[in-house]
Amino acid sequence: MWAELLPVGRSAASGGYRRFAWNTADAECRAWFEQQARDRGLAYELDRNGNQWAWLGDPDEGGAVVTGSHLDSVPDGGAFDGPLGVVSAFAALDELRTRGARFARPLAIVNFGDEEGARFGVACIGSRLTAGVLSREAAYELRDADGVRLPDAMERAGQDPTAIGADRERLARIGAFVELHVEQGRHLAEQRPVGVASAIWPHGRWRFDFHGEANHAGTTRIEDRRDPMLTYATTVLAARKKARLAGALATFGKVAVEPNGTNAIASLVRGWLDSRAADEPTLTALVAEIERTAAERGERDGVRVELTRESYTPVVDFDGPLRDRLAAVLGGAPVLPTGAGHDAGILASAVPTAMLFVRNPSGVSHSPAEHAETADCLAGVAALADVLEDLACQ
Ligand code: GLV
Ligand code: MN
Ligand code: MN
Ligand code: MN
Repeated sequence: MWAELLPVGRSAASGGYRRFAWNTADAECRAWFEQQARDRGLAYELDRNGNQWAWLGDPDEGGAVVTGSHLDSVPDGGAFDGPLGVVSAFAALDELRTRGARFARPLAIVNFGDEEGARFGVACIGSRLTAGVLSREAAYELRDADGVRLPDAMERAGQDPTAIGADRERLARIGAFVELHVEQGRHLAEQRPVGVASAIWPHGRWRFDFHGEANHAGTTRIEDRRDPMLTYATTVLAARKKARLAGALATFGKVAVEPNGTNAIASLVRGWLDSRAADEPTLTALVAEIERTAAERGERDGVRVELTRESYTPVVDFDGPLRDRLAAVLGGAPVLPTGAGHDAGILASAVPTAMLFVRNPSGVSHSPAEHAETADCLAGVAALADVLEDLACQ
């Protein structure tokens, strides 16, 4: 099953994945999910927000145990971030059936749509819509880099966009959600193959627009320039320094330049800041400081700076009793926090939620070099099966 998914959306040039919401590779991943569900005799459902569900038992009974993750990727992402949780979910169900487990409540496997936000700029769109954290109106405003609106992209992919929005009835069916994910750091590297999540750092995305003036690179005197690239560069350096001092993280990983000509001073530089910290006051203060630096430097450069918060996820503390129960089922598995966002972090506001992490020897993620050893992945499947058996079986 893993082998079938591996070539889907893989770039021959980079070796990384380009599975973006509603693109062709995403459609292939979705077809794969549906097939896995049908092959196992599970009831397949595509919900109003583009999330896919595979049900064992009657969803209307309530108290369902749900597991899964996402199949989309960041630009040139690795093979594990997302798919490991979905593949492990199907494999854990197979394992439970082999064990002859008797289910006491419904079980579902889910593939949340557009977790990475690579196309429309907001992460976890499928789970945010479901939880009502992202409104239908706000989702309708989202556009990709080519100006395609989210509802139009959905419609082109065959999904009715008019129905998107909060789905409380669906959430009310869920008794517990457990997402398995490759670890995206090295907490587990020297420890055990599988750990349990304690918390997710608060994090968000901010867009800085640096408005300058386009002009000739060869004839415009230095003192006459209003060059937004300078303000941008200074902001990037300041963000790094201030984040280090605060024990936090600040990353400019995406930038767009207009008109983007070698021999023209830019008129606009648009830089996206991803920032994360262990607590919200630290994060808020850090972003405010970065904004202040940008504005001060903008004054000197004759550049107007505009800041837009594109998304924000508050700190997530996973359900304590569920976390402890998982750790106990797994024989005292290590418990660790993470700086990465997940659909589990969105669902945690609505249903008891937990996460399992599978060891990542290098800690590298959001890169084609992301890796987990096969033995650790199999340990992850066994751990997930143990957890599901404890939660869903007699
Ligand atoms: C998602 O993987 C994120 O944390 O950005
Ligand atoms: Mn990711
Ligand atoms: Mn992920
Ligand atoms: Mn993620």
